[in-house]
Amino acid sequence: MSPIISPSLLSANFNELAKDIEMINQSDADWFHLDIMDGVFVPNISFGFPIISHVNKLAKKPLDVHLMIVDPDKYISEFKKAGADYLTVHYEACSHLHRTIQNIKNEGMKAGVSLNPHTSVDLVEDIIGDIDLVLLMSVNPGFGGQKFIENTYEKVEKLRGLANKKNPNLIIEIDGGVDNTNAKKLTEKGATALVAGSFVFKSDSPSQIITQLKELKF
Ligand code: DX5
Ligand code: ZN
Repeated sequence: MSPIISPSLLSANFNELAKDIEMINQSDADWFHLDIMDGVFVPNISFGFPIISHVNKLAKKPLDVHLMIVDPDKYISEFKKAGADYLTVHYEACSHLHRTIQNIKNEGMKAGVSLNPHTSVDLVEDIIGDIDLVLLMSVNPGFGGQKFIENTYEKVEKLRGLANKKNPNLIIEIDGGVDNTNAKKLTEKGATALVAGSFVFKSDSPSQIITQLKELKF
């Protein structure tokens, strides 16, 4: 099997966003990764509903929306309307995570939970059977282009162990600093989806980088 590849539009060229979207449409990528930041949960603000809807009009692949916001429950139906297919919330931002997950699924979206680098994978054990995806942050969320945190390998391995017992189809997605120095090892440890922002968009041949990542077999 090959990993799901989800290029992060945070590093795209917003002057020519339609061009980058079409590049992803034509490439071996599987999803579009959209990072939503509110300036409260993370020290940065990215973009919101108008951009997601715009991407949705042009995108021919599912939208993988990563919410780095407090109180995501308020906006779940808005994200559905904007075109989200996968909606991932942060464990650290949800006091009633089980309810939030049910709300996402009731809207007809796939549900994901993201963990910051310091958050133990053990904390998703009791929700793992209810979700489609766990997104492990391999940098502190908020910015593209940061250095990959090596402890992520151990977390992937442990999470894959938990998933094998309770939800073998769980997608384990890695986000932050992913490139050709760590992608293979991540898939060997049990990752099944890779987000890549700067590795794709800062390269001279983004489409080839996507193909390289997609060709990793596990
Ligand atoms: C960071 C975001 C990432 C970011 C990844 O908070 O969640 O999706 O775009 O960018 P790179 O691949 O450059 O680390
Ligand atoms: Zn992300």
